[in-house]
Amino acid sequence: MEFFNLIKERYSVREYKDKEIPVELLEKVLDAGRIAPTARNCQPVRILVAKSKEVMAKMNELTPCVYGAPIVLIICSDTNESSGQPNGRSFAEADASIAATHIMLAAADVGLGTVWVGRFDQDEVRKALSFPDELMPFALMPIGYPADTSVPNPRHTDNKELSEIVKYI
Ligand SMILES: Cc1cc2nc3c(=O)[nH]c(=O)nc-3n(C[C@H](O)[C@H](O)[C@H](O)COP(=O)(O)O)c2cc1C
Repeated sequence: MEFFNLIKERYSVREYKDKEIPVELLEKVLDAGRIAPTARNCQPVRILVAKSKEVMAKMNELTPCVYGAPIVLIICSDTNESSGQPNGRSFAEADASIAATHIMLAAADVGLGTVWVGRFDQDEVRKALSFPDELMPFALMPIGYPADTSVPNPRHTDNKELSEIVKYI
C-alpha cells in the first residue's frame, strides 16, 4: 500500500480470526522491527513471540487486551545493551517503541492486524515469564488476521488538527 494510505488505513484491531499466521509472513513483519533505528545503533530490542497454549493462557491473565489474537508479541529491550541519554535516562523504551511501530505498520501492509497494548504490569510479565533482570517489556502487541467483523473504533479518526500539535518557533 502507498505509505500515506497505509498510515491512514491502519487501525487498532480488537477482534481476530482463529487463523494461524504463516511463519514466513510473521518473520517478514518481525524483520521490520529488526531494522528499526536505535540509539547509537545499540540494537537492544528483543521480541518474544507468545503463541503456545501455555504462554497464551498466561498472556490472557496478564492483560485483558489479547482480543482473541493467535499471537502476542512482547516487545522488550535488553537494558544492558541500550544506550543512555546525557541526563542519565535510558533510550531502552524509545528503541523498543520504534521497533514496535515498524512492526505495526509492516503488519498492516501485509494484511495483518495489531493493537499496541500498554495495559499490563511490567513486573508481573517479567515474573510470569521468568525474564532475566535486564529484559524489560515495553509493549504487548496482539497480531493476527482481523475478523471479518472488525472495524476501527469510531475515535480512530478523531485526531487533533495539525495546528493544535505543531508550532513553528
Ligand atoms: C502506548 C499505547 C498504549 C496503548 N494501550 C492500549 C491498551 O492497553 N489496550 C487497547 O485496547 N489499546 C491500546 N492502545 C491503542 C490506542 O487506544 C489506539 O491506538 C488509539 O485509540 C487510536 O486508535 P487507532 O489505533 O485505531 O488509530 C494503545 C496505544 C498506544 C500507542
